[in-house]
Amino acid sequence: MHRTVDYKDGKVILIDQTRIPSELVELELSTYKEVADAIVTMKVRGAPAIGVAGALGIVLAARHSSTLDLKALYEELARAGETLKNTRPTAVNLFWGIDRMLNAAQAAVQVDSSVQEIVQALESLGEAMLAEDEDVCRAIGRHGAELLPKKGSVLTHCNAGALACVGYGTALGVIRAAVEMGKQIHVYADETRPRLQGMKLTCFELMSDHIPVTVISDNMAGTFMQQGKIDCVVVGADRIASNGDVANKIGTYSVAVLAHHHKIPFYVAAPLSTVDFSLVSGDDIPIEERSHEEMTHINGHRVAPEGVEVVNPSFDVTPASLVNAIITEKGIVRPPYKKNLKR
Ligand code: MRU
Repeated sequence: MHRTVDYKDGKVILIDQTRIPSELVELELSTYKEVADAIVTMKVRGAPAIGVAGALGIVLAARHSSTLDLKALYEELARAGETLKNTRPTAVNLFWGIDRMLNAAQAAVQVDSSVQEIVQALESLGEAMLAEDEDVCRAIGRHGAELLPKKGSVLTHCNAGALACVGYGTALGVIRAAVEMGKQIHVYADETRPRLQGMKLTCFELMSDHIPVTVISDNMAGTFMQQGKIDCVVVGADRIASNGDVANKIGTYSVAVLAHHHKIPFYVAAPLSTVDFSLVSGDDIPIEERSHEEMTHINGHRVAPEGVEVVNPSFDVTPASLVNAIITEKGIVRPPYKKNLKR
C-alpha cells in the first residue's frame, strides 16, 4: 500500500480515509490550511498520521511564506502551528509533530539561515519524520509480535494500522509482524461506532494483506471473550499519561474491562511520541467531543429521533491497572508504568 501520509514536490499527499473502503483516493494538499481541514474532517486520522501531517503542514506554511525576514517567518509558522493544533485535542502526537518542526525552524532562524535554507531544512526533517514513523512502527511490531500466540485470535478496536500512521501501523503492526514471523493470527475487528474505523479501515487493510479478519459490532466483544474466542487484545493509543493511563478511541475502556474480567491480556501498542510525560494521570487528557451528527446520522441519513439529546466523546481513558503491557519501539513496558515508561 502507498504511504498514508507523504510529501512530494512541495505537496502533502494523503490517502482520503473518508472514502475507504469504496475507493482509494489520494489528495494533494498545497497549504497548511488544507492540512488543518483534512485533520478536522478526518481525511487523515490516527495519532501518528496526524502528528506527521501536522508537521508537514508547517513545511507548507514555510514554502508559501513570502517574507524574507526570519523573525517574521518564525511568527508566521507559529501562527500556522496554532491553526494546526486547534484541529483535534486528544492525540498528543499532533502537538509533538508540530512542535518538533517549529523547534527546528527556531533553531535555523537563530543561526541566521536564509529563508530558502530554512525551507530546505524543514523539508528534510519532514522526510526524516516520514521514514522514522515507518521504522518505529516496524520496531513496535517486532517487539509486540513476541506477545501473540503461535496460533490464535486477537481483538482490536478502531484502526491503529498503516492508515493511522505513515505505514505498517502500531496495533496492526504487531499483528502484521506476527504473521510475517509465521504465526497464524485471526483478527476480530470491533466495528467502532460511531465512525466505523474498525469495519471500514481495519478490515480493508487486513483484507488487502490477506490477514484473516472478522468484523463484529462493538457490543459483541464480551460474548466472544466469554466463548473463549479471543486470546488477547491489542489496541493503539492517542495519548498515554506518565502513569500509564491510556486515551484511545471511545469503547476501548469497555474492551479493557471485559478483557480483565475474562483474564485476557490487554496490550497497548504506541510509539513513545504518544506518551505525554507532562500529565500525571489520564484525568488530565483532553477528550474531543465530535459532531452529534456522527451519532444521529448514518451515511447522511437521520436514524435518531429529531431533537434527541446526544453526547459524542471521541475517546475514553483506560486506567493503567487494566493494561498488561505497553508495546513501544524501544521494547515492551510492564507495570509500574510511572517508573518503567521513563526508563
Ligand atoms: O478518531 P481517530 O480515528 O483518529 O482515532 C484513532 C484511534 O483512536 C487510534 O486507535 C489511535 O490514534 C492510535 S493509531 C496508531
